[in-house]
Amino acid sequence: MDNNNNRTSLSAEMLAKIGAGVALMILGSALLLSFVPSIFPAQASAEAANVDNLFNILLFLGGIVFFLIQGLLVISVIAFRAKPGDNTDGPAHHGNMTLEIVWTIIPSIVVVFLAIISFAIWNDNTAPKENENMVNGAPVEYNVTGARYAWTHEYATTMPNPNAEGENIVVNSGDILHVYIGQNVKLTMQTPDVIHSYWIPAMRVKQDLLPGNPEEGGRPTELRFTPILVENETYPAEYPIVCAELCGDGHGRMRGVVVVYENEEQFLEMFFDPAVDAIVNPPADPVLRGEATIQEYACAGCHVLDPLGWAGITGPSLNGLADRAGERVAGQTAEEYIANSLWNPGVYLTPGYQNLMPVHGPNEPGINQMTPEQLYSIVAYLCTQGENSDCDLENNTEAIPAAIESQFGVTVDVTFGMDASAESSDAGSALPESQILDTLFGDDDAEGEATEETAADPEDSAEEAEDTEESGE
Ligand code: CUA
Repeated sequence: MDNNNNRTSLSAEMLAKIGAGVALMILGSALLLSFVPSIFPAQASAEAANVDNLFNILLFLGGIVFFLIQGLLVISVIAFRAKPGDNTDGPAHHGNMTLEIVWTIIPSIVVVFLAIISFAIWNDNTAPKENENMVNGAPVEYNVTGARYAWTHEYATTMPNPNAEGENIVVNSGDILHVYIGQNVKLTMQTPDVIHSYWIPAMRVKQDLLPGNPEEGGRPTELRFTPILVENETYPAEYPIVCAELCGDGHGRMRGVVVVYENEEQFLEMFFDPAVDAIVNPPADPVLRGEATIQEYACAGCHVLDPLGWAGITGPSLNGLADRAGERVAGQTAEEYIANSLWNPGVYLTPGYQNLMPVHGPNEPGINQMTPEQLYSIVAYLCTQGENSDCDLENNTEAIPAAIESQFGVTVDVTFGMDASAESSDAGSALPESQILDTLFGDDDAEGEATEETAADPEDSAEEAEDTEESGE
């Protein structure tokens, strides 16, 4: 007890030393804080300041603890080191009630304080906002899919698709998310395979995606942020989207881009209106359709394709694919080989690559579904990837459907529903309004694909509709 009493009565000199130590700790911690702005990206969302403030508080408190412990360690090593020739044990100490109470109560107060402010900020940053995802005065559903190893973004509007009976226009922008300053963005996110984490460092938002089909008990997760104006930024501005959950060997390349437009007008003019127009008036040329369609699938994460800026390496490169497609599998034409690579990718594997690619058959669920018409247009596009294509390019509207028929026994509607003479045989659910649209825009379903259309999940077929249905000319 005598020892303890001696220790607790502090001399003025001791107090000065402790004061100096505390000052140094705070100074060191403040120095750490000063580095933060040079390490972090610009604060591009309304949520960012909250998150950075919390980070700074944590760093400041953590810095104090760091310098306290390291400081005491250094002092102890120097001041209490063994004197030369002193081989005795140091004095034995048993407990110190005052110290123990102090070092229990102070951290408890700090932890409770941190819990309260963290929860308040989390609550603030994730709370639903007014007028979420407004585009042109109407809300649009922003759906994100994270699949090994790419992000896909989809904008489900409430505008009826003139080319797809009873369906609304759904814009797909592949691995790019388009938003504008002041838009209250709410993303609804799903994954068909493993846990991924959607992270936009500039927005300071991050949220895991949980596996499982919603129809089978899976739970979509949500992410909210509101882009704000960043000083000295040129718009449209681009910020990276990153996968922050180790999801396989392509994890590091599972990236995307968020494009922030200066205002809604710029968003509409540069992205949304042209995208909607491409759905309402799709090109008749299967190559042009295919170029747009292939970007709706998560191919970029695994394949290289220079014209589209793809840089994935988990799967074989698609650069110059048409030049070698004819020699890959004995007995298969280039068209047949490419069609098989999409609908049946596991049957022939490019040497050196594993069987990782999802099957894109017409009956696959969700984002992997690919109708015969989508297959046709994607094959038509891939057939143009090469200097000396093995495909019959002049004759692609016949050669590719013939290849698909020979491999899968499926008929392709090469008119994409533009043949108005075909009677709609799946009009069971047709409403008077859609019949009016039919009259305006012509019949939209060839008989051959009627089964596909009705069997498909309504949400999934919305995406494919733009390609299978007819143009609005
Ligand atoms: Cu997806 Cu890591």
